[in-house]
Amino acid sequence: MVCHPGSQMDSPNTQRMTIASESLPEKYSLEASREPLPQLIDSFGRVHESLRISVTDACNIRCRYCMPETVASFLPQHRLLSFDSIARVVSVLARSGIRKVRLTGGEPLMRPNLERLVDKLAKIPGVDQIAMTTNAMLLSDQITALESAGLTHINISLDTLREAAFKRISRRDGLDAVLRGIESAISTKLVVRLNALLMRDINLQDCIPLVEFARAKKLFIRFIEFMPLDADRQWSQDQVVSGTELRLVLESHFGPLTAIGRADPAQPSSDFVFEDGQGGVGFIDPVSQPFCQSCNRIRLTADGKLRNCLFSQEEWDLKAACESNASDHEIHSIATACIRKKYASHGISESNFKQPERAMYQIGG
Ligand code: 5AD
Ligand code: SF4
Repeated sequence: MVCHPGSQMDSPNTQRMTIASESLPEKYSLEASREPLPQLIDSFGRVHESLRISVTDACNIRCRYCMPETVASFLPQHRLLSFDSIARVVSVLARSGIRKVRLTGGEPLMRPNLERLVDKLAKIPGVDQIAMTTNAMLLSDQITALESAGLTHINISLDTLREAAFKRISRRDGLDAVLRGIESAISTKLVVRLNALLMRDINLQDCIPLVEFARAKKLFIRFIEFMPLDADRQWSQDQVVSGTELRLVLESHFGPLTAIGRADPAQPSSDFVFEDGQGGVGFIDPVSQPFCQSCNRIRLTADGKLRNCLFSQEEWDLKAACESNASDHEIHSIATACIRKKYASHGISESNFKQPERAMYQIGG
């Protein structure tokens, strides 16, 4: 993806962060209108249909590609966007074409009573998919309530099957809990997928065991390239295992992979099936092959800021809007302003690329 120097499209890094006002009381009135609102279309014609909602920045592990080893503090309760406000925002954005939501974090299961949010979201007309990305450590206790509330899809992060490597990556014990969480998800009717992230010097060797595990469990597994969003700012290009490289490694072990078409053109992964018909694997390559041109996502942070990109340097404050009695039209116009300023691409490979101030756990994976 090409950036245009000197224009608004250069990179997302040239704008100032909008600072939130957190002091306004939550007193908006819920408008039950279902009147359609204009679609969320950016200046490149991309229509936005997917909203990723971070419900907390807290996590029970400390993956080195995401979090620092020690965190001074997570957001206190009063700085989190309330479930009512999240549902309010989603109900407005659903009227402008948002139909998929994904709950993320931090670790979304760290937010108490998450099923209550899922229940609210499931009742919003126009929302046809409620997904969650989780590390699964707390999943086995919560899966039944989440499924009953209306969760439809679940992506579980699994980067290794070796306890020592799990500890090295996440700086915590917990592989057993994750594996229990995976089993509990398999026992539901939810669509379950695995997500893996490889760092060359840490867990590249896990790719084949991970694929074998996924095939044995009849789960689709997707590998996502390591992006410069780690809190420690240790990211370097040489730690990124590209999808192309990984595909060659997997093919030399499992035989040829056959590409399958994208069910959804905005889907970021290139998916393949194995020759023997047992399962498949996907590659999400934001670093080596950016898919910005088909991006249809916006993001809501746990503290209620709307971002038009993971790498955005600017945010729009929906928490303040919700808490100051903003009308549906005002919320919609904040979202429109956010989308209008979306750049053509993230610019990771550009010389002037600047890592965002927030790390992945503070934005939402
Ligand atoms: N690069 C790419 N993906 C990341 N995630 C977290 N940090 C990064 C990063 N730096 C993704 C992982 C994890 C999910 C919650 O977020 O895929 O499974
Ligand atoms: Fe927690 Fe997910 Fe970040 Fe790992 S990647 S530290 S599980 S938020």
